[in-house]
Amino acid sequence: MRASVITSFGTADALHEAHVDMPVPGRGQVLAKVRAAGVNPAELIARSGGFNLPAPAIIGFEFAGTVAAIGDDVSGVEVGDRIAGWPDSFSQGSYAEFTLSSNYTTIPEGVTFEQAAATVIGADNAARGLALLGPRPGETIVITGASGALGGAAVQFARLQGLEVIGIAGRFSLEYVESLGATAIEYGDHLADRVRAVTPGKIDAALDTAGKGLLPALIELRGGTERVVTLADMAASRYGVAFSAGHPGNRDSRHVREALEHIAAGEWRTRIGHTFPLSQAAEAHRTLEAGRTGGKLLLIP
Ligand SMILES: NC(=O)c1ccc[n+]([C@@H]2O[C@H](COP(=O)([O-])OP(=O)(O)OC[C@H]3O[C@@H](n4cnc5c(N)ncnc54)[C@H](OP(=O)(O)O)[C@@H]3O)[C@@H](O)[C@H]2O)c1
Repeated sequence: MRASVITSFGTADALHEAHVDMPVPGRGQVLAKVRAAGVNPAELIARSGGFNLPAPAIIGFEFAGTVAAIGDDVSGVEVGDRIAGWPDSFSQGSYAEFTLSSNYTTIPEGVTFEQAAATVIGADNAARGLALLGPRPGETIVITGASGALGGAAVQFARLQGLEVIGIAGRFSLEYVESLGATAIEYGDHLADRVRAVTPGKIDAALDTAGKGLLPALIELRGGTERVVTLADMAASRYGVAFSAGHPGNRDSRHVREALEHIAAGEWRTRIGHTFPLSQAAEAHRTLEAGRTGGKLLLIP
């Protein structure tokens, strides 16, 4: 099969298309034919060598596609079913024609592979981060990175749970964030003052999905670190803020399925910035590194 293979970790140039052996599904796994793979910030770190993966490595931490073959002890899906989920291995990922997975959900009719691939990591992490805040209907939450994959999902889950949402995003994303049902505010200087100016009541909780140094403003708005959670800021411990990391043990495909069902019903938005053929994985990484993607970047094998 074709895959984007890293033999030596480093810059985006490390990603090279090559022919590699087809993976074979083991117990509990399906072989998925990848139809779209999300390109994520964590994959930039993995590509640079930050995850200490063994080489040669195929990265790519989320996918949508079809079931191509089924291993032992797999139930609930058949060959040909449309699924979205996580590859089982960080070094045998979704930047490839095929990948192995035991954690996935089926894709409802009416949802494209691109939409599904763009939803997996965002919906899962957003739902987990939100749950940690114990939100109650009628409360007001501030969500940073509200135009992003994680933040956009967090805004929409929060609205579905009956919360008022202040969404923090860039100037060019404000209209999009408003369309998700949030009051949108541009990040930048005096953020806490500008949030307070549009919020008469108190801020009950804050979820940081941007990781861009906004924790002091969120702590100021909350009057402390209680009910402040970050999914993205590595300086969390310095501020005494809870950091929630996603890992294979806490992924929950039910949240992905829930988001996909809302997409199918026309009541959930997933922003796709650009799609690249697999052969242009390096270009996709450069685009993500440059920022202002306009939405999720996807590789199409
Ligand atoms: N905890 C975990 O396990 C976990 C899992 C997955 C991802 N993450 C992390 O979560 C973060 C978001 O991932 P993602 O896939 O949602 O990224 P994304 O789709 O690229 O979204 C990034 C968000 O950050 C905003 N942003 C960019 N520059 C900013 C700045 N200077 N100040 C404030 N906000 C800014 C963007 O706003 P505009 O585009 O509107 O400018 C956008 O809303 C990444 O750091 C990623 O590594 C963590």
